[in-house]
Amino acid sequence: MFSGSDCCGRSRALAFSLILAAGSLVTAGPCDIYASGGTPCVAAHSTTRALYSAFSGALYQVRRASDGATTDIRPRAAGGVADAAAQDTFCAGTTCLISVLYDQSGTGNHLTQAPPGGFQGPEANGYDNLAAAGGAPVTLNGQKAYGIFVSPGTGYRNNNAKGIAVRDEPEGMYAVLDGTHYNDGCCFDYGNAETSARDTGNGHMETIYFGDNTVWGRGAGSGPWIMADLENGLFSGASPKTNTGDPSVSYRFLTAVVKGGANKWAIRGANAASGGLSTYYNGARPNAAGYNPMSKEGAIVLGIGGDNSVGAQGTFYEGVMTTGYPSDATEDAVQADVVAAGYAIAPLTSGPALSVRSSVSLRATTAGYTTRYLAHSGATVNTQVVSSSSATALKQQASWMVRTGLAAASGGQCFSFEARDAPGSYLRHYNFELTVANSDGSKQFREDATFCTQVGLSGGQDTSSIRAWGYPTRYLRHYNNVGYAASNGGVHTFDAAGSFTDDATWAVATGFA
Ligand code: AHR
Ligand code: AHR
Ligand code: AHR
Repeated sequence: MFSGSDCCGRSRALAFSLILAAGSLVTAGPCDIYASGGTPCVAAHSTTRALYSAFSGALYQVRRASDGATTDIRPRAAGGVADAAAQDTFCAGTTCLISVLYDQSGTGNHLTQAPPGGFQGPEANGYDNLAAAGGAPVTLNGQKAYGIFVSPGTGYRNNNAKGIAVRDEPEGMYAVLDGTHYNDGCCFDYGNAETSARDTGNGHMETIYFGDNTVWGRGAGSGPWIMADLENGLFSGASPKTNTGDPSVSYRFLTAVVKGGANKWAIRGANAASGGLSTYYNGARPNAAGYNPMSKEGAIVLGIGGDNSVGAQGTFYEGVMTTGYPSDATEDAVQADVVAAGYAIAPLTSGPALSVRSSVSLRATTAGYTTRYLAHSGATVNTQVVSSSSATALKQQASWMVRTGLAAASGGQCFSFEARDAPGSYLRHYNFELTVANSDGSKQFREDATFCTQVGLSGGQDTSSIRAWGYPTRYLRHYNNVGYAASNGGVHTFDAAGSFTDDATWAVATGFA
């Protein structure tokens, strides 16, 4: 439909993204655009929307903890936004995980729970964790949808993918990510990786990477950066170490592009909510042995490194892989389509409101424990029996000052709980145990000390469940009267499914002190 590498112009891109079908104007999806450019999608993944104008099949599958049942979430209409309401109904009163991310391209390249590789995932069988279904709410042109919130330990993979570039074959990819959710762990990747889930050498991967890892390479400033994971290196350009043309980017909605062909590759990026793509690198393969020619293997990873390194975090909304090296003009048209999709933030909290600067108490609601409140004694967090006639010291230990969520990436939407009797000390999780500690100001502390409230899982009136911002599968829970950030049916003893929803449901009231 349009030719060659002549570029670019938003008007041309927009014109290109509109096709006339049966007398009505239909917006082409990203994969319609790639196909028209001669570089069709061979994998197309999104929990938020259809990536073809005609796609009305399953976008993803969720599995709920209460009975292990699964359901597929589809677009509300062909080419449209995911039916988030169907997920909300299916998951009400329990917890849900995203169990399958379907491939819309027809190639069958679905992504499922990543198996063990060079590194073992955190599940008992070495598999990675699945993402919480409700961890990354957004709206697209006002319609609610959910992204995939990848906490460290979470990963999806397909080691038997079909049609993905191998060896030095050309390919392109883009992904829409949360540019404020990242870390320096290895490696928040989306794209082409080893079929063995093991590090088989330089040039055996080609993925989008996003984060501020500096072990291998870096861009300008302090990050985060879009880089390419080419195995045994995150590359920002020709130099294995640095490319000052690769800027730090932290748009709340970020479009990241990586493409690679015979001794050429490129990194591009944009604000996914407005404007066009900029090129951060476009040139020869890195100056290091093993990357020219490439030895791509054609498996697909999301949220992890090629060898199943699971230390990274990030949020994925949509992304594709193509066969052939897309032109810049094709990618510009895809970016225009992404902007037109209208990504915007959605509330991270629900249920009874919490007032910042108020003192609250959190009462257990599990039958037999309803006189107990979440309390701390020094660093230890447990539940204690507290009443209006308790000693002042105990009342203070069971009272928490509500603060705006310390994690920058929570966007001021969630909360932190400061100990009433120890100003500057906050409730946080560490190794998924709750503790109270002085803030060291670090990004890790602030994220570990941020919690998001939602309607109580067990459904009691005026109750809340309170999930860890950085691990939305994990909730404040008492277990043997000790405080944890626990997941429903996870690998730790304190993750036990029995009475989980009750143990993770709290009656929030005015603080004792
Ligand atoms: O290239 C960076 C990482 O190095 C890869 O993702 C992983 O396979 C290896 O540990
Ligand atoms: O609580 C889980 C993790 O344990 C925290 O995020 C981290 O600080 C610690 O390693
Ligand atoms: O925390 C008290 C109880 O301990 C919880 O209700 C139960 O899950 C565990 O046995």
